[in-house]
Amino acid sequence: MSLGPIGIFDSGIGGTSIWREINRLLPNESTIYLSDSKNAPYGEKSKEEILRLSIKNTEFLINKGCKLIVVACNTATTNAIKELRDNFDLPFIGIEPAIKTAALNSKTKRVGVLATKGTLSSSLFHSTSMSHASGIQIMEQRGTGLVELIENGELNSPKTKALLERYLSHMVNQGIDQLVLGCTHYPYLIPLLKDILPDNVKIIDSGDGVARQTKYILEKYNLIDPSVSKADFQFFTNKDVKVLDSFVKDARVPYKVSFLDF
Ligand code: DGL
Repeated sequence: MSLGPIGIFDSGIGGTSIWREINRLLPNESTIYLSDSKNAPYGEKSKEEILRLSIKNTEFLINKGCKLIVVACNTATTNAIKELRDNFDLPFIGIEPAIKTAALNSKTKRVGVLATKGTLSSSLFHSTSMSHASGIQIMEQRGTGLVELIENGELNSPKTKALLERYLSHMVNQGIDQLVLGCTHYPYLIPLLKDILPDNVKIIDSGDGVARQTKYILEKYNLIDPSVSKADFQFFTNKDVKVLDSFVKDARVPYKVSFLDF
């Protein structure tokens, strides 16, 4: 079992930001990444639909022999991880907006959260906010349209910039000093966000924490691959191979991107 790959899925290419962190921390672990871009964005779908897609993605990765699954999508985590853990007998690592870190760091006691509708309306997001942010004003903003622009490769277009400015101006005017990126697609907007945000606003994402948790769980369950043979990195997408490739091509490892009729 410890020879199996780590499975990672997202509604699209966003989870490649998580894959990069995992690969940096666990370079000897093989991975299989599934990008369900055909069904992106998940953030506008119902909880039932997000759960159905998450189960389908999980079954694909289990059939590929994965030993652990990283749900590299805040929307799928906040809407489906409990059910996934209840229904499948392997460890799951999820990702949630890093409210706790932001709340601890905030001096102005005002924290902005940019995430999908599906994440912001989930009960898991609300219980996390309640338990970690007492005395902190959390300012939520849906990033409607951003996932589509990122999937389209528009990381720096005037349209993306205008949308971000529109979404963030209110919380910036209200004095936030932390902006939590609650969607795994959004780290690709960090260069643009740095142009838009005042210098005192810190951008927080959860990728590094997810990688550390993945390592911790692999060690805990004795699932670290003991072989020193070369790890293998496979990426699957049910939409555009070129788009997924463009998000991983900076990886300094040999990898393969394939189309999947899924
Ligand atoms: N990467 C997903 C997330 O972290 C994007 C959700 C979507 O497809 O709307 O929430």
